[in-house]
Amino acid sequence: MFLGKMTRAGIGMIAALGLSTSIATAQESVEVLHWWTAGGEAKALQVLKKDLESQGVSWNDMPVAGGGGEQAMTVLRARVTSGNAPTAVQMLGFDIKDWAGEDILANLDELAAKEGWDDVVPDALKDFSKHDGHWIAAPVNVHSTNWVWANKAIFDELGINQPTDWNELIAALDKIKAAGYTAVAHGGQAWQDATIFDAVVMATGGPDFYQASMIDTDPDALGSDTMKTVFDRMAQLRGYVDDNFSGRDWNLATAMVINKEAGVQFMGDWAKGEFLNAGKVPDTDFLCFRFPGTQDAVTFNSDQFVMFKVGEDRQDAQMKLASAVMSPTFQSAFNVVKGSVPARTDVPNDAFDACGKKGMAELAAANKKGTLFGSMAHGHSVPAGVKNAMYDVITAHFNGEYDSATAVEELVNAVESAQ
Ligand code: BGC
Repeated sequence: MFLGKMTRAGIGMIAALGLSTSIATAQESVEVLHWWTAGGEAKALQVLKKDLESQGVSWNDMPVAGGGGEQAMTVLRARVTSGNAPTAVQMLGFDIKDWAGEDILANLDELAAKEGWDDVVPDALKDFSKHDGHWIAAPVNVHSTNWVWANKAIFDELGINQPTDWNELIAALDKIKAAGYTAVAHGGQAWQDATIFDAVVMATGGPDFYQASMIDTDPDALGSDTMKTVFDRMAQLRGYVDDNFSGRDWNLATAMVINKEAGVQFMGDWAKGEFLNAGKVPDTDFLCFRFPGTQDAVTFNSDQFVMFKVGEDRQDAQMKLASAVMSPTFQSAFNVVKGSVPARTDVPNDAFDACGKKGMAELAAANKKGTLFGSMAHGHSVPAGVKNAMYDVITAHFNGEYDSATAVEELVNAVESAQ
């Protein structure tokens, strides 16, 4: 109570008197490294900050922007090297596995057992949350990457129905372009190019081809005619982006769809967080549907908070953070705002909007059918080294450095040398 009411000036004075240590340790805190810097992301994170604050735990924010987390991982490496790991770090799939090998992560087994995490977290996520049978991370959500976000007013104005295959998609994009809008809102950053690539691979070759090329990295699949068609299609899509796409942040591309400057964005469902944050309503202002040709499949990624070993004085706050993340109430409240779906199987869908309900149902159906696959672009299909090798080729081709035949060859070679 006393601390809560104290002003900054008051704390400053006590510090000046040399009493700062006892004050500082009285308040528990967590330091969290993440890349949730866009409006919708920050709003979702606020749910967690408030939850912890209500338990007396303050939040030290360490934001490092950049989807896919590449920049965040670089900053993390520097922090760990200097012996100063944060309490928790947002991480994706194979990055978790890389860090798990280093013996610097906390063990969450006791909390996990007490709260029964094993029974409610799907195996596809547990593959990453656990290392050698021990819990090292708390999964926050499940996102999926094969979505289209469309401006409904543009679709209505031009009489466009939701496309269900490649030809219908191209016909829709032609109409949008001819009407003077940017057809595809896109940000030319490697992870965004790769996010579209995930969807085009699935749409062009189907689930078996996605498995062979993006997960098993089978050289025959990577070097196939189907892969050449994938690159041809990427080049075709390049013809629908505006001249200023290079380097644009993903949320600015989403804003183009929100503001009726562009027809569609191909992006993971974190884009929905931006629509909601702008006060837009699914099926009224915007449409969400699967990338044409991928209706029966889901490419997913899951943000997890990986817990690092911290001193005894910080462990209680760390466990409070892990427990807050795993609570069913939080999993609903957070994911409703974030655009993702819960990482637990026992959370009701009542609070979710139309896109969220669709996302939850399709995730469950794909899981049952065997058509749920880790997203390459978002670190859930191959280790970071291989992913980055793929990124380089995809981006070079998207920017016209390679023709499709060369891109196929480069992909095979780059993946082989990265393995
Ligand atoms: C993360 C999302 C995030 C997005 C854009 C993805 O890699 O999984 O949580 O919203 O990047 O920042």
